[in-house]
Amino acid sequence: MSDPLWYKDAIIYQLHVKAFLDSNASGVGDFRGLTEKLDYIRELGVTALWLLPMYPSPFKDDGYDISGYYDIHKDYGTLKDFEDFLNEAHRRGLRVITELVINHTSDQHPWFQDARRDPASPYRDFYVWSDTDKKYAGARVLFGDTEKSNWAWDPEAKLYYWHRFFSHQPDLNYDNPKVRQEVLNVMKFWLDMGVDGLRVDAVPYLVEREGTTCENLPETHEVLRDIRRSVDAAYPDRMLLAEANQWPTDVRPYFGNGDEFHMAFHFPLMPRMFMAIRKEEREPIAEIIRQTPPIPPSCQWGLFLRNHDELTLATVTDDERDYMYREYASDPRMRLNIGIRRRLAPLMDRDRRKIELLNSLLFTMPGTPIVYYGDELGMGDNIYLGDRNGVRTPMQWTGDRNAGFSRADTAMLYCPINVDPVYGYQGLNAEAQQRVPNSLLNWTKRLITVRRQYKTFGRGSLELINPANRAVLAFVRKYEGETLLLVHNLAGSAQPVELDLRRFIGAEVIELLGRTRFPRVAEHPYQLSLSPYGFFWFKLDMPQRVRGRS
Ligand code: GLC
Repeated sequence: MSDPLWYKDAIIYQLHVKAFLDSNASGVGDFRGLTEKLDYIRELGVTALWLLPMYPSPFKDDGYDISGYYDIHKDYGTLKDFEDFLNEAHRRGLRVITELVINHTSDQHPWFQDARRDPASPYRDFYVWSDTDKKYAGARVLFGDTEKSNWAWDPEAKLYYWHRFFSHQPDLNYDNPKVRQEVLNVMKFWLDMGVDGLRVDAVPYLVEREGTTCENLPETHEVLRDIRRSVDAAYPDRMLLAEANQWPTDVRPYFGNGDEFHMAFHFPLMPRMFMAIRKEEREPIAEIIRQTPPIPPSCQWGLFLRNHDELTLATVTDDERDYMYREYASDPRMRLNIGIRRRLAPLMDRDRRKIELLNSLLFTMPGTPIVYYGDELGMGDNIYLGDRNGVRTPMQWTGDRNAGFSRADTAMLYCPINVDPVYGYQGLNAEAQQRVPNSLLNWTKRLITVRRQYKTFGRGSLELINPANRAVLAFVRKYEGETLLLVHNLAGSAQPVELDLRRFIGAEVIELLGRTRFPRVAEHPYQLSLSPYGFFWFKLDMPQRVRGRS
């Protein structure tokens, strides 16, 4: 059997089936299209895919509003197409992570339809009903730009129902054991099919209790431990990934004692990488690392720069939020809820050096990196589209019609392709970048190749070095006798740095991207000059005799 800790060494590529490749000229990407593109994904060097929701859905929240858990949305193909895709991915050594959206369903789900119509329905108690909208007043409204309350009136049931996200997404009632059982059934269905991991959506909000924020409650953790027990009992090599957009101390319990989630996203680190590069100082990153508690050995952080949602600012202070909005979202259209709905390249003003620097951070910090489709090309966004759709535009494959994404009439596409002069598909596409040796795509592949050679990146410890120059973020990663030194210049100007590496005296210093030998570590501080936004990935090789003693 494969290593059950595979997710620690993984590099994940996050994609939307609808946005990847349309095989039948319907205007929407599908599983057959995605299957055709598996070689592209494998050649990128990533080892796993994470797919956004692919289930039947009225698509009011891009598929996070599920109306049937045991099928594939008809626009994406059939269950058979999905199984073929899964087999083809596995044949190429790629793992597949899908979505388990269990906090809520769509209001179109038959459970809800039944529940609202009939007080005696066995599904009535699948949801959270109330005759007042005053309960659980301590719970914040997450999608504040659209929703004013977590309660919505249902004229048919003549009751209010609870929803933490959009009002068309009623929350499931986890105090009902039947709901828990249904969720386990859904999970088993997909795991039996061979899915390798599940990203469990919106986990902090499963259970509600009066007088609390209704987030991260002990009862919620109880439900999650139960889910984990079922996975471990029958599927020992599968992975559960938590979406808990919380501060580090509140996320930590989602790992439990290694008996809840295998992985959780590191939400607070993400905006701080953007903050650090803008402020040209390491402190935002260093500070959140200091605040991040240790996690059990079998657990792992999921790291990302961008994803399908807004760049969330839920886990920063008010001042930091103002700073981020000022610096990265001058146009109000760029803002959504508590965040910024933009892609990586536009956030970095398409400055290749900054994009590379952020990617270097993504690939060297402790955790499993997740690359959002299209960011390997530096794709742009479209802030004129509603909600978060501007960062979910079709993948730009070629300079041909519809960017090679679809043979449908252009007007049929699920959303417009980017045609602007800077990010438009005519110049910015995978085919063109494959031909240019130093394109962002080829650079990303090289970075991934190097990263995959050293287990330390995925598994090693982290220790910050604190040089006097505060524009420089330097840290040492160690794993089973391997030592890496990572040095980043967050400033847009060249910077000198002196590193105290005395405990590595005598070590050979090898730069990993060019395999260049640097001067050995000696008694005096180790001096480096970093180019603007420059970085070094070093391996420190201790001479034999020193190694023997360390
Ligand atoms: C998660 C998803 C987001 C969705 C929300 C409600 O946060 O990432 O896209 O809107 O859940 O399902």
